[in-house]
Amino acid sequence: MNVRCLIALLMAMTGDACDGASNATTDVAAATDVGADARDATDATDPDAADAADVSEAPVPLPAVLVATVAEDTNPDPRVVEVTLTARKKRVELVPDVVVEMWTYDGTIPGPLIHCRVGEEVIVHFQNDLPEATTIHWHGLRIPADMDGSPRIQEPVAPGASFTYRFSPPDAGSFWYHPHVKTNEQVEKGLYGLFVVHEAAPPTVDADRYFTLDDILLDADGLAPFLSTMMEEMHGRTGNTLLTNGQVDAVSLAAHKGQVERWRLVNPANARTMELTLAGASWRVMGTDGGLVATPYVVDRLVLPVGQRYDLEVTYDQAGTAELRSHVLTVNEQNQVEELSIPVVTVAVADSDAAPTVAAWPAVAALPARVPTDLAELTLDARQTADGLEWMINGESMPMEPLFEVAKGATMTIVLKNKQMPEHPFHLHGQFFEIEKRNGRTVTDEPGLRDTVLIHGGETVELRAYMDNPGRWMAHCHILEHSELGMMGEFLVDDLGAP
Ligand code: C2O
Ligand code: CU
Repeated sequence: MNVRCLIALLMAMTGDACDGASNATTDVAAATDVGADARDATDATDPDAADAADVSEAPVPLPAVLVATVAEDTNPDPRVVEVTLTARKKRVELVPDVVVEMWTYDGTIPGPLIHCRVGEEVIVHFQNDLPEATTIHWHGLRIPADMDGSPRIQEPVAPGASFTYRFSPPDAGSFWYHPHVKTNEQVEKGLYGLFVVHEAAPPTVDADRYFTLDDILLDADGLAPFLSTMMEEMHGRTGNTLLTNGQVDAVSLAAHKGQVERWRLVNPANARTMELTLAGASWRVMGTDGGLVATPYVVDRLVLPVGQRYDLEVTYDQAGTAELRSHVLTVNEQNQVEELSIPVVTVAVADSDAAPTVAAWPAVAALPARVPTDLAELTLDARQTADGLEWMINGESMPMEPLFEVAKGATMTIVLKNKQMPEHPFHLHGQFFEIEKRNGRTVTDEPGLRDTVLIHGGETVELRAYMDNPGRWMAHCHILEHSELGMMGEFLVDDLGAP
């Protein structure tokens, strides 16, 4: 198989467009023995054992998340997760005969899962074996600012150097990590990984799985050159090859009728908003960026912008094949825009008479009502310069002065105005918010706490942000080309010592 074939695979993929592409199916769960832990952990996480946070209890293994690689916890203290992570190059055979030089954490894409229970201490010994400086940003974790991987606070880790990140994640949920230096290049090359913070009493489900839904842009030589087209400056780098859990082929799994699983999804792509449907099974949205929602809800098509996460309850209510499909717009040979529906996860669902699983999700209290006391307006715009396109916040490209400053604990209305047509998945570090209004209309179908919000072309979005984590934080578009080309600033949350 050559790269043309690989690209054709995406452009015309039905599963057998290229011979050999579809037989490299892998069960990510089968790749390790974490499945065994899952069964142990299920008992251990019954409501009775929910007080796992009580230090007097015997050590309880972490619930298993079914992913290819889990970072090994070397700390004997059951309340401390201590891992080593090395960033290094790796030649990866994406499909047979197509070898691409990628950058990885510990040689895998996605990087190893790091997981802990809410409130536990996490220590990450990071070693940079890349030829370029880098940092790790823990996307969505509300941890101290000096551990957040912002290159404006942390001196980037030089080639050959190391850095120890140490923090205690305060919120349960599905998070991820990635570099914050030359981010458009380093993330596209494969530097991203999974981070799960387990609830004190996680739900009982048949499997807890985490999927990364990425795309990359390949040409005949591997990864295509960066920022070399007007299209890429304008819309960000949209790939021609989907990469689900680091593989080009659909991830292939097995289940039986009546099972219920938890699926965590993240979009680590540079720019592409993923649109997803599930056929042959049913799903409910249980959680968003900031953890489980008080009222789960059903969607037909899940829109997953870059950076966001969703936690889903997937119920296999019929035997057959269940399929998660990614809906991708492409231009066909007649020059018409066409939507392809590409399977990215396929599950062979065996028939069964066993009693269906009832997933016991922890009750989630509604968010306390907080009235905004502060207001900030951020205008998102672009301008053409002699050097190409510049993206701006409030009229400035890569503003160095803080965009706004508030006191810790403030509840804030943030109004984001998109003056151009390209969309912006806008991200705040270190805080959560709710999406209140789009073009003046109250939003009812995007509940839950978020750290990233999609702002469509020409749209004005109003957020209610909870500025509870003091420090100097980044605010930027998560289309990595937009942020590298200027749509990246900072804000301050002052700790005045008051509660
Ligand atoms: Cu995932 Cu600064 O972001
Ligand atoms: Cu943007």
